[in-house]
Amino acid sequence: MKLYVEKDYDAMSRRVAAMIIEEMNYNPRSVLGMSTGGTPMGTYELLIKAYEEKKIDFSRIKTFNCDEYIGLHGEDPNSYRYFMNNNLFNHVNVDTRNTYIPDGRAKNLQAYCKAYDNLIESFGGIDLQLLGIGTNGHIAFNEPAEELSLNTFIAQLDESTIKSNSRFFDSIEDVPTSAISMGMGSIMKANKIIMLANGKNKAEAINRLLESELVTGWLPASFLHLHTDVTLVIDEEAFSLCDERTLYKFY
Ligand code: GLP
Repeated sequence: MKLYVEKDYDAMSRRVAAMIIEEMNYNPRSVLGMSTGGTPMGTYELLIKAYEEKKIDFSRIKTFNCDEYIGLHGEDPNSYRYFMNNNLFNHVNVDTRNTYIPDGRAKNLQAYCKAYDNLIESFGGIDLQLLGIGTNGHIAFNEPAEELSLNTFIAQLDESTIKSNSRFFDSIEDVPTSAISMGMGSIMKANKIIMLANGKNKAEAINRLLESELVTGWLPASFLHLHTDVTLVIDEEAFSLCDERTLYKFY
């Protein structure tokens, strides 16, 4: 795992956007794994700017999002489909037919999950997966547990996740309690992974990720230590509970 600790949110976003731009220019047919939440919003803004400045082209890009709430329609402002359209896809020249996000209203959810993994495989897998991290160390909606799912699955959301994500909803009762999420195996199959985190509320999860020697289901992000190409880009606040010497362990 390679670690960059940037001064603040903007610097973190700039570093991640630059890495995605490099990937897209290296392979204009890249399959990108996307993520939602507050953390990647700055990165998406910079990608839109790069597109407007003609530095990147989305016309042959394919995207797969790692999760979606169950029960929300794509036009619901809290759905991840709405988020992606609004924060990225509507502003660049991506063909929306090439943007895949799990359908939280699929009739047969089990069959849908299987089909989602097969679809990713059929495009040769994900070249670059972007990930955030939950305050409890979850990635996508792989919540802490003794056993984690290998493939795309129906996830039950943790109380703490429902609470964190309620800031986007009118009330906590409106937050869906389940979601479709890529499994740990689906995520680990990506060629490259970039995980980003900012702010004090992520400091504990980052501390556990970087200071512990354990790979455990109780900290789903810890599985990323087993991947050969992971870059963690965080800001100083997210790093604030770590030992300065940790910087030299991951470079
Ligand atoms: C959500 C999403 C994750 C996201 C994480 C962090 O629950 N399922 O994909 O990475 O929480 O979100 P935020 O960036 O808003 O802190």
